[in-house]
Amino acid sequence: MLETQNLTKIYEDGRLAVDHLTMKVEPGEIFCMFGANGAGKTTTINLFLNFIPPTEGTALIEGIDVVREPLRSKEYVSFVSENVMLYGNFTAIQNLDYFTKLAGKRGLTKADYAAVLQSVGLQKDAYDARSKTYSKGMRQKLGLAIAIIKDAPNVILDEPTSGLDPKSGQEFLKLLTAMRDKGKSVLISTHDIFRAKLIADRVGFMKNGKLGLLMTRKELEGKDLTELYVQYMDERD
Ligand SMILES: Nc1ncnc2c1ncn2[C@@H]1O[C@H](COP(=O)(O)OP(=O)(O)O)[C@@H](O)[C@H]1O
Ligand SMILES: [Mg+2]
Repeated sequence: MLETQNLTKIYEDGRLAVDHLTMKVEPGEIFCMFGANGAGKTTTINLFLNFIPPTEGTALIEGIDVVREPLRSKEYVSFVSENVMLYGNFTAIQNLDYFTKLAGKRGLTKADYAAVLQSVGLQKDAYDARSKTYSKGMRQKLGLAIAIIKDAPNVILDEPTSGLDPKSGQEFLKLLTAMRDKGKSVLISTHDIFRAKLIADRVGFMKNGKLGLLMTRKELEGKDLTELYVQYMDERD
């Protein structure tokens, strides 16, 4: 479970990026957070990961306050960023091995790594190629493989499909639904309404650090999400 209570971030320059946000992502749920650039999505995610301190309020991972127990809370979350950080001189297998051990897991074999790389659809000839030669899509797939192998109950993804070609994007979303079906809480920030609508169990629209227009999959049925989005964005505060 991912949860925020009154979470607020005012940056040092006085910019209010997240405004008293209270939300939950339940186990077995994909929650898509939409919003224009600058809406506060990445800030919310960075607060969950304790990369930046909140001004007010709390972010909880599996009920653990991320500020009070930063290390323990991180055991329960996998993160896939917009630009996945990899060691360019390492191959896919070496990156997986490195990040897996960093996450405290031991005893995985090359066959285990190959299996997860296959599940994310990375082409075989890339397994032993240095990751600095990879395309954006390949990097995202390897990032997801790292997240999958960690097998944490919560997964946070910041703009995971931006820059992916349509086929890779669709495959990526399938993998996220597989995670959801295993009972994980999945939080995705995206402006890719078209793709996200296919997999979201719940959506919310972020504007000026506030999350509005929360809707479940059922409530979304037959509605034009893009239209709702544009209307919401055009409304005055
Ligand atoms: N380190 C920072 N210092 C000051 N302002 C920031 C910083 N990071 C982001 N912001 C501002 O906070 C707001 C929210 O940004 P962000 O969370 O990156 O939005 P999103 O991910 O939805 O595009 C924006 O106005 C952005 O300019
Ligand atoms: Mg962002």
